[in-house]
Amino acid sequence: MTIQTFDHTRTLARELAARVLARIERQPALVLGLPTGRTPLPFYEALREQTRVRGTRWADVRTFNLDEFVGLPPDHPGRYRAYMERELFQAVGVSAERAGFLDGNAPDLEAECRRYERAIADAGGIDVMVLGIGANGHIGFNEPGDGLMAFTHRAQLQPATRLANASLFGGDVEQVPHEALSMGMTTILRARAIVLMATGEEKADAVARMLGGPVTTKLPASFLQLHPEVTVLLDPAASPR
Ligand code: PGA
Repeated sequence: MTIQTFDHTRTLARELAARVLARIERQPALVLGLPTGRTPLPFYEALREQTRVRGTRWADVRTFNLDEFVGLPPDHPGRYRAYMERELFQAVGVSAERAGFLDGNAPDLEAECRRYERAIADAGGIDVMVLGIGANGHIGFNEPGDGLMAFTHRAQLQPATRLANASLFGGDVEQVPHEALSMGMTTILRARAIVLMATGEEKADAVARMLGGPVTTKLPASFLQLHPEVTVLLDPAASPR
């Protein structure tokens, strides 16, 4: 893994945004895997700003989001689709047809998971997968446990993960769904390149174990050690001491 530490979250976000836009300019039909959460907010802000300045064209880019809650109404602002529209897609011009999402309201959730795997394969696979990491070491909604799922699946959210998502629900953890759909470990590890961002002290322990500990289902992000093309972007607080 390549590890890069930046003096400030904003510097990290700007650098990653510049790299992604340069890549889109070279490869307009780039397939991007994208995360939600608090960590990527400065990255999406930098993408909006730099897209405006550079005039980067997103019309041929395809995106696939990592995960989505189960059971939220289509107009609920807590849906990750709503987050992505707000934070990135409207500003840079990614149309609904080119933005891949799991549908947490699909009548058959298992069939929806299979559809997503096919859609990613039909798009030619993910070129660059951008990830955050949970303080418990999860990636996507692949939570620590005795086992991990390879492909897109239904996931039960752990209390810590629901708490981390409460801000999308007016700070009320009770409103956060208990279940989500998520890409699996193989879905993520099949991406040609992976970039993981981690900022803030509460991520330092998970980052240290991801980089230096054994590969274990107790820390799903440790599986990134098996991938040949991973870049980890950190701020000083999240960096191993
Ligand atoms: P956060 O979530 O960016 O809101 O900390 C990261 C994650 O859970 O992947």
